[in-house]
Amino acid sequence: MSAARVAILTVSDTASLDPSADSSGPVIQGLLTQNGYVCTHLQIVPDDEIRIRSVILAWCDQGDIDWIVTTGGTGFGVRDRTPEAIKPLLEREAAGIVHLLLSASLQATPLAALSRPVAGTIKNTLITTLPGSAKAVMENINALLQAGVMNHAIELIR
Ligand code: MTE
Repeated sequence: MSAARVAILTVSDTASLDPSADSSGPVIQGLLTQNGYVCTHLQIVPDDEIRIRSVILAWCDQGDIDWIVTTGGTGFGVRDRTPEAIKPLLEREAAGIVHLLLSASLQATPLAALSRPVAGTIKNTLITTLPGSAKAVMENINALLQAGVMNHAIELIR
């Protein structure tokens, strides 16, 4: 399989005003690049459902992005709406990936219970929603990369 193409969307009011405040997007980019993925997009939007949806739909329409990773907005803060923005767009939900994220994260910290991830596909693109901290994205990406889970998923949806 040719290298999987990934787009990263940081969802954060703070980072949308000051991109230097985005630590988790670059952490995802670094980890995935080290593991042979090609990161084609790295964008920041505020915690705004309409803005999140419009980027996700545009990227899925492109037809050349295998995996979209979002970071941020999955918790219980008043502005945290990433799952609400993305879940209605999913054509097929991936409960197993959500289970993998939560079970691996709960081994790292009980606070993982405060994240509300969703995952699934739109057209030929897989979407996963990760929490917002650099530590959390590292733990979540490591869980997704173990045993080639994401590569196998991407082979199947291509
Ligand atoms: N998952 C992992 N693996 N490691 C973490 O440190 N932090 C949790 C949780 N998931 C955490 C984690 C915390 S403290 C919060 S509040 C939620 O993710 C939601 O984060 P978000 O609102 O930035 O998406």
